[in-house]
Amino acid sequence: MLPAIERLSTAEGRPFWVLRTRQTAYVFGLDDRGYLQHVYWGAQLVLDSDYGFPGESHVWRAFERPKALTTEEFPAWGDLNFGEPCLKATFSDSVRCVLLEFVDSRIEQEGDRARLTITLKDPYYPLRVHLTYSPIPEYDLIERGVTIENTGDMPITVERIMTAAWNFPNHDLYRLRTLSGSWASEFQIQDVDLAMGKQVIERRRGAAGFDSYPWFALGADGADERHGEVWFGALAFGGNFKIVTERNGFGDVAVTGGINDFDFAWRLDAGERFTAPTFVAGFTEAGFGEASRLQHGYQIDYVVPRQTAHDLRPVVYNSWYATAREVSEANQIQIAERAAQLGVEMFVMDDGWFSTRTDPRSGLGDWNVDLRKFPNGLEPLIRRVNELGMKFGLWVEPEMVNPNTELYKAHPEWVYHFPNRPFSEGRNQLVLNFAREDVQAFAYDFLDELLTENNIAYFKWDMNWHFSEVGWLDAPAGRDREMWVRHTQGIYDLLAKLRARHPHVIIETCSGGGGRIDLGIMAYSEMFWTSDNTDPYDDLFMFEGFTQAFAPLTRFRLVTDPDEMNNERKFSLEYRFHVAMMGALGVGADIPRWSDSQMDEAKRLIATYKEIAETLQFGRVYRLLSPRDGSLSAVQFVSRAGHESVVFAFLHASRFGMQRVRLRLQGLDPDATYQVDGIEAPMSGQALMKRGIPVAMIGDYVSRMIRIRRLL
Ligand code: GLA
Repeated sequence: MLPAIERLSTAEGRPFWVLRTRQTAYVFGLDDRGYLQHVYWGAQLVLDSDYGFPGESHVWRAFERPKALTTEEFPAWGDLNFGEPCLKATFSDSVRCVLLEFVDSRIEQEGDRARLTITLKDPYYPLRVHLTYSPIPEYDLIERGVTIENTGDMPITVERIMTAAWNFPNHDLYRLRTLSGSWASEFQIQDVDLAMGKQVIERRRGAAGFDSYPWFALGADGADERHGEVWFGALAFGGNFKIVTERNGFGDVAVTGGINDFDFAWRLDAGERFTAPTFVAGFTEAGFGEASRLQHGYQIDYVVPRQTAHDLRPVVYNSWYATAREVSEANQIQIAERAAQLGVEMFVMDDGWFSTRTDPRSGLGDWNVDLRKFPNGLEPLIRRVNELGMKFGLWVEPEMVNPNTELYKAHPEWVYHFPNRPFSEGRNQLVLNFAREDVQAFAYDFLDELLTENNIAYFKWDMNWHFSEVGWLDAPAGRDREMWVRHTQGIYDLLAKLRARHPHVIIETCSGGGGRIDLGIMAYSEMFWTSDNTDPYDDLFMFEGFTQAFAPLTRFRLVTDPDEMNNERKFSLEYRFHVAMMGALGVGADIPRWSDSQMDEAKRLIATYKEIAETLQFGRVYRLLSPRDGSLSAVQFVSRAGHESVVFAFLHASRFGMQRVRLRLQGLDPDATYQVDGIEAPMSGQALMKRGIPVAMIGDYVSRMIRIRRLL
């Protein structure tokens, strides 16, 4: 097998590097002018010389000098490259022009993973840049990173540090896919054909989510779900991010992404280093569906918390939709007793358990149990939950404070604020400045105390407001704009510390639903509450969008009672369960009110879910029919070992005579034999994929689950 990273030389002796994954190659090197030039990214080719060489494709254009015509791996700003730069900085003498020249390269092997580091430096000023490349061969991905270093004795102000520029080959038509939406309608797929100019997705309010997620996919020349060349990538950063897709006047396409440079500045003091978040990207020739599966596999094997990476996510009960903030020992125990009958494994009490928290106006920040609701503390409830055979979890919102709390009275300086400006509240709350170490320590202490003094196995970590009037005027000199990064990093550090001390705690993250979902926070949390909207039909669209970028393992959904909040639709319990179980399942309904027959049905569905949970959480997902394309949609899961498959079909509205008769499956072994639920004779994988299975369905909002087992 060829090595994952190889350093080769051009005929003139200039270095270039070939990075290989299972199916792809990524090539770049030093051109004859000393620039680090991108050469190739796509399917692996037979000969090394097939990829071309750095410097061979120079063109001449009036008004452009060579630098502007070079597809640079890491363009710095200040001279003759006028495209989207990765780096912009001001040196201590006010010079604002960064030049970078090649110093050396290093290939390291850590276990079975190889890593390339390219070091560049400014020829005059004491700035070094270390670019890192780590191929993930089995998922056709490359992780890129960058660390900058001040090797002198005067500070450097960094005004922009994007992790990577990704360059793409020439294609007439590129379709850019991003995820958009808003609260309660997250993960809407947005496709646009690239024209000349820029398409920017970004966040400027402190958290990545709702209207833009730090993720992109670019399909070439009509690529679709099952076919065609697709490049895709995601940033591991949940704060302000920016991803710019640029097509210049010559048709070259590049995606540049990282920390948003808007209102950003980082002071790099003498001897200091700064590492930007990882940007991981990949390529496939098999369409958007395969692009998703490669990312899902990578997230499961490399990103989600290692402590629980192989554990099935528990079946959760969450109290929010049933009791809102009116929680009490009596009503939670009553619900817990019913939840245990259903087969729930983790009982989670949501908002309302602390301080004077009867409405959103009070309590956030004072994390002591409300003794009016829990006269003997949490212990009796937790003990009862444990006796019932379930673990216990709790809702927290550590980054927020209500102004009428003891915490705020004691530390008004802990919130972001500017003098002479208002304090803009949302949900009556303000954002605590997690860039401050004292704020991080306060949050760590109360969370650690909760975990140490109670048998708590799970936190739901919420975040329900965004950053405004972002002043941090008592920051160390020149560091106040670092809050955009220090806040997010502070959350990661705190979660890492908490997880190290309590290795079995499970973290669900939430920000009013999908207001903060990305690969950064994924490394510290098992599950995402993807939307406050629990309408299962809406959720089919959100599932399609979510799984473009994120593994079903991390998708946590609750079956709730029909609610009037959204579309005033009625669904069967079965339909609700089928939509919710395509990932990590929970129940959020007012179950003490459920009839015996509803309880029985839910119990049966949860028991079935547990039988197939491994396939639904860790398996490969095939989006067979999109809800955007017609009245029937379908999703298929195939277990990692290939021993079983589960198909969910959802009929939105019957039209007489228009029923689809058969559904063609994917991802099976054509030579294997399978037993399909409801079909007597075994079928070959080939027949299941070429001829399909019957899906006669009739009615509105009808669902079916079909299990398929491999025989031989
Ligand atoms: C947010 C969350 C909900 C719930 C409430 C509690 O809106 O998204 O799931 O936890 O807060 O206040």
